[in-house]
Amino acid sequence: MLDTAYETITVKPLTRHIGALIGGIDLTRPLTQQQVADVRRALLAHQVVFFRDQPLTLDQHLALGRRFGTLHVHPNSPGPEGYPEILPIHSNAATRRIAGDRWHSDVSCDEAPPMGSILHLHTLPPHGGDTLFSSAYAVYESLSPGLRRYLEGLTATHDGEPTYRQRNRLRGIDDTGKTFPKASHPVVRTHPESGRKGIFVNSNFTTHIDDVPAAESEGILRLLFERFASPEFQVRFKWESHSVAFWDNRAVQHLAVWDYYPDVRSGYRVTINGDKPYR
Ligand code: SIN
Repeated sequence: MLDTAYETITVKPLTRHIGALIGGIDLTRPLTQQQVADVRRALLAHQVVFFRDQPLTLDQHLALGRRFGTLHVHPNSPGPEGYPEILPIHSNAATRRIAGDRWHSDVSCDEAPPMGSILHLHTLPPHGGDTLFSSAYAVYESLSPGLRRYLEGLTATHDGEPTYRQRNRLRGIDDTGKTFPKASHPVVRTHPESGRKGIFVNSNFTTHIDDVPAAESEGILRLLFERFASPEFQVRFKWESHSVAFWDNRAVQHLAVWDYYPDVRSGYRVTINGDKPYR
């Protein structure tokens, strides 16, 4: 059923907790103020929004991202020549580890992690290659009041080094002497626009909960990671050529499914800067 509360777009919610398909908008053209306001409102309401048939050039993709904030430059994967803010997402028969193959919120190891990401895929494998998104609000709200209170007093360390060094090694890149972002964030984060609370730890970047015994940190993180992997909090997006997904890293985690090796899956991501998380 369509949500009719928008002036310039159609919005079709895909599940109760997360995800909506947006229609009636051409992202290749400059957006009006009202279109930006409607897309932002749909993103806040549904945490991740999807669009079909948007054959964006790199310049159009950058222009779209800039309507929602300043753009992020990835700390480990430089963009193509002349496009530092573009993150290529590409895998083929030579790939040894794809981007996004573990549940994560993008670059959560940054002091001020990205607010959102806009991914455009132009080349898809004949089967598979879906992306899963899981709601940090729904995970938080599924916990008992006592556990929520306990988690609200904690911070956790997010470290880019282990995952980025492994990725570089598999790509044959020598990163000796390179440093990687590392930051401590609240385990329960209040969304700066919606005011809702969500869990902000993920299996790609979060190494431990600060200032608790190692066994306790491991147990709590395992429980939270398992909740994100639970299908009832998720939406699964089936890509078509020139689909676009726009997700809110403050409210969701995502996972790219690598079930199509050795086929090609390819596109570009633009990432929008965010704020330092707070409790
Ligand atoms: C990512 O941005 O983590 C990649 C997501 C995807 O390729 O579906």
